[in-house]
Amino acid sequence: MIRVQEIYKSFGKAQVLKGVSFEVPQGDILALIGRSGYGKSVILKHVAGLLKPDKGHVFINGSDLCNLRGRNLLKLIERFGFLFQNGALFDSMTIFDNVAFPLREKTRMTERQIRERVLTELEQVGLIGSEGKFPSQISGGMIKRASLARALIEEPDIMLFDEPTTGLDPITGKSILALIDSCHRRIGFTGIIVTHEIPRVFSVVDQVALLHEGVVLFHGSPSEIMTSDDPIIRPFVQAATDGAVK
Ligand SMILES: Nc1ncnc2c1ncn2[C@@H]1O[C@H](COP(=O)(O)OP(=O)(O)OP(=O)(O)O)[C@@H](O)[C@H]1O
Ligand SMILES: [Mg+2]
Repeated sequence: MIRVQEIYKSFGKAQVLKGVSFEVPQGDILALIGRSGYGKSVILKHVAGLLKPDKGHVFINGSDLCNLRGRNLLKLIERFGFLFQNGALFDSMTIFDNVAFPLREKTRMTERQIRERVLTELEQVGLIGSEGKFPSQISGGMIKRASLARALIEEPDIMLFDEPTTGLDPITGKSILALIDSCHRRIGFTGIIVTHEIPRVFSVVDQVALLHEGVVLFHGSPSEIMTSDDPIIRPFVQAATDGAVK
């Protein structure tokens, strides 16, 4: 479903990605982990078609994203849901209108049907009562939850999450992961979660890829990475596990 093949990306003199490859089979979720600044968000932006690799390919269902232009690219990307690292809501719209936006843009649902769907989605993320507020009036955690509701409301085929729980209190973080898990079971999307939430995210994902110095150093199951003896992988997982809020 998602195949990243030998991608290279530099910004100026900084070579960030040095031949990154991995696959996510249809219906699976991959956790993409690794130290800050190593290029996890950059990889996600390549999968989303927002950045083009200097070299290499990103295949979605067999189509090479780099060869698609204009309408064909849009058609493919429309089936994606994104949760960006900073939330990214429209400031001038209420939470309700933000979440309703994709339905109003892309479906022929009536206002009444939209209202019902939006309220159901907001209830799932615990935002009932805040639907009339603007992004500037709610907390960072609430913005993340509203962004999640907006991303999931279209029931996308592919979901890309960039640190969905970072900056949230542990209880809200846990409920966001549970929400991603239940939506995944319901919709069956193929997904990538960029996260530092180790080991908690491991119960939600099927596979883990560890990005290290521009390449995928490890790709396997959560239990494999947890028991790895590799001199780079082991300290990374250990530090993350020690630092996790239990
Ligand atoms: N558009 C850009 N222009 C220039 N440099 C960029 C751009 N986007 C990312 N970078 C650089 O690429 C590197 C990787 O950034 P990225 O945001 O992917 O890190 P990350 O692994 O997601 O880190 P974090 O865990 O802190 O979010 C950084 O050095 C960053 O400064
Ligand atoms: Mg990032």
